[in-house]
Amino acid sequence: MPRAIISPSVLASDFGQLTAECKRMIKGGAEWLHMDVMDGHFVPNITMGAPVLSCVSKGVPGIFMDCHMMVAQPEKWVNDIADAGGSLYCFHLEATNDPLSLIDAIHKRNMKAGVAISPDTPSTEISDEVATAADMLLVMTVYPGRGGQKFLDRCVPKVSELRARFPDKDIEVDGGVGPKTIDVCADAGSNVIVAGTAIFGADNPEAVIAQLKSTVNT
Ligand code: DX5
Ligand code: ZN
Repeated sequence: MPRAIISPSVLASDFGQLTAECKRMIKGGAEWLHMDVMDGHFVPNITMGAPVLSCVSKGVPGIFMDCHMMVAQPEKWVNDIADAGGSLYCFHLEATNDPLSLIDAIHKRNMKAGVAISPDTPSTEISDEVATAADMLLVMTVYPGRGGQKFLDRCVPKVSELRARFPDKDIEVDGGVGPKTIDVCADAGSNVIVAGTAIFGADNPEAVIAQLKSTVNT
């Protein structure tokens, strides 16, 4: 299995102190920062877009921004997110008719490409061709749209199925993940761990990051 990567979701942070919050997470051991971009169409809420990401990348040099694009037209934002310093552009399979061309466009802008599936999308919807072209697969363990929701156990078998098909691929889990749910995620084979509430809401985020990482690595 690929190495463990912890990607705290800044959705649970203090947006008024965003760059400081990102620096705090990196100091605490996080490799990536998970940036939830919501457009009010694909999901009901609106969060942040390229102008905010641009400020973060300038304020936190070297940051790896794992951009989770919960947007209705993922083709539309590739250039803006690349210009803003995005490192990985993860779009929802449900939001595009041409994932291969989109992956190609993302790679042309020197970003890694991720493919996300919502709870009701089977893992078999990700074709071998798409998965091979992508750098990362994201299995949502809550319905996309907001932080702090309950982890959906029924999504875990999709992680196992994808890990069996793609032993070397980065597989991310996102939604309700924390110390209480990391065991099943790690056993199923996910190696990129997103956690918002569990990290930002903790008294000692550094300890939570270390625990999540060691559970995946063992
Ligand atoms: C949900 C987002 C998640 C969310 C995770 O739509 O994609 O990244 O912020 O937050 P927690 O860990 O609190 O469930
Ligand atoms: Zn997310």
